[in-house]
Amino acid sequence: MQIDTPHRNTLLDSFGRQVNYIRLSITDRCDFRCQYCMSENMTFLPRDEVLSLEECARIVKIFVSMGVTKVRITGGEPLVRKNALWLFKEIGNLEGLNELVTTTNGSQLEHQAESLKAAGVKRINISLDSLNHERFKKITRVGDLNKVLRGITAAKAAGFKNIKINTVLMHGINEDETLDLLNFAISQNIDIAYIEEMPLGVVDHERQASYVSNVSTLNLIQKHYSLFQSTENSGGPAKYWRVSNTETKIGFISPHSHNFCESCNRIRISCKGELFLCLGQNDMVELMPLLRAYPRDDEPLIHAILESMKVKPKGHDFDLSRPSQSVVRFMSYTGG
Ligand code: 5AD
Ligand code: SF4
Repeated sequence: MQIDTPHRNTLLDSFGRQVNYIRLSITDRCDFRCQYCMSENMTFLPRDEVLSLEECARIVKIFVSMGVTKVRITGGEPLVRKNALWLFKEIGNLEGLNELVTTTNGSQLEHQAESLKAAGVKRINISLDSLNHERFKKITRVGDLNKVLRGITAAKAAGFKNIKINTVLMHGINEDETLDLLNFAISQNIDIAYIEEMPLGVVDHERQASYVSNVSTLNLIQKHYSLFQSTENSGGPAKYWRVSNTETKIGFISPHSHNFCESCNRIRISCKGELFLCLGQNDMVELMPLLRAYPRDDEPLIHAILESMKVKPKGHDFDLSRPSQSVVRFMSYTGG
């Protein structure tokens, strides 16, 4: 099957936005159970419903041939997937790809940072919501802060630049650590991003009660630090500031307080091979049936991907005042 289309090598949606960034979740599993991300008792997908690593590699290869230049491997926790390193190496070798990056909870970095660097991973984001051991355990339900701190050290030692901590601030849970976490980032010469909690999946706490606006976080930080706005733009919901006289950059990821959708350049692929066109909407296209029905012919997949561009929505629809409107899937499934 040959498809004649002018956009074969450029993914343009119906609003003229170019998609050049994919985020691929390679597992819904995780060794943590963060309160805002998972419920206490999660059921994970059976293995055969999850993309094989070969299927992941094939998908990424196709997207790169269609003009995607940046790939983020996420989860769940990507580094708990057996042989994940094989996939990182495959993707790291792809011609046309500029940036292979990953988001991790840091629990495995101590042992894997060096191999990830060697595989061609350019940058790592590490989730860290507390520097207090007890509280860290409470938020992640099972995580060990020491391991994550050793993971950060290992990532620095492996030579990663621009390491970034991802922090979800929650009122009454860790909001009081806003400045401690920033001080930690500054002392480590790394970056930090404050992420507003998004209503993804049904969790055990009341999201509206724990929601912390990045507007108040920025105000608080500005009382203690001199910041200047950075012009960097990732095409996503992040606004960046630099902290004067430090190496640290602060990102504010504000799905609620800012409208960033008009410059959206990304799509997400779940560990089941569903192509989600917007984090905050349920529109999606299933790639798994095509992957499995046409193991040696990429054309049907290419066609489906091109068609999906027509249904990429204009913007998200997060609204904490309407809990019934929550997107039903968890971040661990779609990829953060
Ligand atoms: N809202 C905001 N951030 C979330 N993360 C996971 N679930 C949510 C949510 N509901 C964060 C994790 C990780 C990043 C990929 O997404 O903390 O750092
Ligand atoms: Fe795991 Fe990340 Fe979800 Fe925490 S936020 S449970 S580390 S996937």
